[in-house]
Amino acid sequence: MKKITIIGAGNVGAHAAVSAATLELGNIILLDTNADLAKGKALDITQSMALFHNDTIVKGTGDYEDTKDSDIVIITAGVSRKPGMSRDDLLEINANILISIVKQTIHYSPNCILIVVTNPINTMVQLAYETSGFSKNRVIGMAGILDGGRFKHYIAQELNVGASEVTTMVLGDHGALMVPLEDHCQVSGQPIAELMPRERIEAIVEKVQHGGSEIVNLLKTGSAYFAPGLAVIQMAKAIIRDEHKMLPCAVYLEGEYDVNGAFVGVPVVLGNNGIERIIEIQLSDKEKKAFNVSVAHIKERTQDLNKQINVGKNSEDLNS
Ligand code: 2OP
Repeated sequence: MKKITIIGAGNVGAHAAVSAATLELGNIILLDTNADLAKGKALDITQSMALFHNDTIVKGTGDYEDTKDSDIVIITAGVSRKPGMSRDDLLEINANILISIVKQTIHYSPNCILIVVTNPINTMVQLAYETSGFSKNRVIGMAGILDGGRFKHYIAQELNVGASEVTTMVLGDHGALMVPLEDHCQVSGQPIAELMPRERIEAIVEKVQHGGSEIVNLLKTGSAYFAPGLAVIQMAKAIIRDEHKMLPCAVYLEGEYDVNGAFVGVPVVLGNNGIERIIEIQLSDKEKKAFNVSVAHIKERTQDLNKQINVGKNSEDLNS
């Protein structure tokens, strides 16, 4: 049976654990620095599974020893946004948390696949890649699935159709410069440009780009967690069941989409080795222009990470 470790027993981590348990994806470890929080939520989730004749056991812990030999490690730990904050505002505080987590994770599970949810995701997943020294197919960021789900919802709401009828793809940065591919979005095979006026499409694209903030402003105490928790388990499921599923993920590009050396949201095929291949789709001129702006923002934020963050108190090198 596969072993999945979820680091961070906050709302996102706990909902990821519920999703993974519901799908019976394997043995699940929920780890948090607040061990009792992890243990309490894990016990509650396990007891909820018993109600559905589901024998999955979620083990809560504060000890990385319990994560030993995990197949997948999902990192959700970190501070979430409050109203008025951008995801990039979380860089400094979450970078140090992430580096510490990755160093302990790779010690106990040197062969795992890392999936990063912590924001700002495009920077955090690059940090995980640099800190872990893993091959690029084993370090993946969760973003496009979440943003694509919001895009589906807004299109479905606008046209009063079921969201399952809507196919979307969101690329680039997981932030205001993300690129919902309006020219690739379809409803039951029909391009949305044939179903609604351009100005409505543009209004929806804007809503998707600020979809996370909409929830932050409503909740006031943090950011979304149901959809992020489910989205990351869609990735874990594709890997564990070797589904060869095409999903938008933040992955390391080395020439694809004319991008070198950055973690960018693009369509990839996920299977049991993590990223099996990167899919290069034809972008319209408008999409390509927006994509390049998005990539430039990612590169600006992730360049010289060593300089941008005071890694640990002794500012040890990222790769030490
Ligand atoms: C979001 O978009 C938390 O970044 C996540 O809701």
